[in-house]
Amino acid sequence: MPRNLNALWSFGAFLIVTIGFLIASGLFLAINYTPDIAQAFASVEAIDRQVPSGWFLRSLHMGGVTMLFACLYIHLGRGLWYGSYKAPRELLWLTGLGLMLMVMITAFAGYVLPWGQMSYWGATVIVNAMRAVPLFGRPVSELLLGGEGLGNIALHRLFVLHFAMAFAILGAIGVHVATLHVVKSNNPSGIDPATPRQTLPFHPYYTSRDAFALCLFLMVYAGLVFFLPDLLTLADNYVQANPLVTPRDIRPEWYFAPFYAILRAVPSRLSGLFLACGSLAVLFVLPALDRSPVRPATLRPLVRLSLPLAFLSFILLGIAGMHPPTETWLIVSRFAMAWWFIHFLVVMPLASEREITS
Ligand code: HEM
Repeated sequence: MPRNLNALWSFGAFLIVTIGFLIASGLFLAINYTPDIAQAFASVEAIDRQVPSGWFLRSLHMGGVTMLFACLYIHLGRGLWYGSYKAPRELLWLTGLGLMLMVMITAFAGYVLPWGQMSYWGATVIVNAMRAVPLFGRPVSELLLGGEGLGNIALHRLFVLHFAMAFAILGAIGVHVATLHVVKSNNPSGIDPATPRQTLPFHPYYTSRDAFALCLFLMVYAGLVFFLPDLLTLADNYVQANPLVTPRDIRPEWYFAPFYAILRAVPSRLSGLFLACGSLAVLFVLPALDRSPVRPATLRPLVRLSLPLAFLSFILLGIAGMHPPTETWLIVSRFAMAWWFIHFLVVMPLASEREITS
C-alpha cells in the first residue's frame, strides 16, 4: 500500500461493514415481515413494538441505509478529488458506479416495503416518471409492478427484488475489490509508488488504522441507531398507504433528494428524468471527459475551484429536493443542476486541454 493514504481511504472498509450490518439485520426483518398490502404496514409496526429487539433490528437497518449512502457519496467524492477514475483505474471506477446503481435500486425497492404513505406515493412518482420514457417505459414498469398501479403483485415483486439485490451487491463488491487488487490503490499525491520502499504492508499498518477508524464510524452509527432513530425518517411514512389521499408534499429520503430536485427542476417529466439519469451518466463517462494525466485536484488550479462548487451544487440540490418546490427552491435547483453539468461536460474537458498544473 502507498505510505501516504489519508482517512478518506477508510471509507471503503466502512462500506463493506455497513453492507454486512444491512444484510444481517435485513434477514431478521424478513422473518417477521409480510409482503401483502393488507398486512405489510402492521407487520412493520409489530416489528417495532412487539417483536423482541425488533426496534433495534429496524433501527439498525434504517440507520444503516443512511450510513451507507453517506459513505458512498464520500467514497465517490474522494475518487473525484484525487482523480482515482483515471488510468489504470477506469474499470474500478465503473464497477464502483455499477455498485452504486445497484444500491440505489435496492434502497428504492426497500422503501416501498413498509407500505406507508411516502412509500406508496414516492414509488408512484418514480413509476409515473418511468412510464414517460418512450418505448421501454411502460413495458418495464408493468414488468416491475405486474400491472398498471402499485398493489399486491408489485409489493411482492419489490420485496423479492430488494432481497435478491442485496446478495447481488455482495457479489459486485467482490468484483470491485478484485479489480482494486489488480490496479492497486491511488494515493493523495496521485503518483504511484515506484519502489517497495515507498510502500507499507497492509497488515498491520492499515488494518490497525482501519480498525481504529471503524470504531469512530461505529460510534456515529450507534448514535443514530440508539439515540436518533427517527432523525431522518418522514412522519408521513408512519401512516398506512392510502391510494385515495395524496400527502401534501411528496419528499424522498435525503439520499435521493438531489436527483429528485433535478427531476422537478424542469416542467417536462421526460426531460426531468433524462436530466436526473444524465447527472449520473456524466460520472460514467468522466474518464473519457478528463484526459489530463494529473490526478489530484490539489495540483489542478481549475479543477480545485470548480469541483468544490460541484460538491456544493450536489448538497444544494439535496436540500432543495427535501423542500416543497417553491420558486426560490426551483431557481436554486436549476443553478445547482446547471453547475453540475457544466463542471463535468465543460470544465473537465477544457481543463484537460488548457490547465497549467502545478
Ligand atoms: C457498496 C459500495 C462500495 C464498496 C463496498 C466499495 C469498497 C471499496 C473498498 C474496500 C476500497 C478500498 C479502500 C478504499 O480505497 O476506500 C475501494 C476503493 C475504490 N472504490 Fe469503492 N466501494 C463501493 C462503491 C464505490 C463507488 C460508488 C465508486 C465510484 C464511483 C467506487 C470507486 C472506488 C475507487 C476509484 C477505489 C480506489 C480508490 C483509490 O485508491 O484512490 N467505489 N472501494
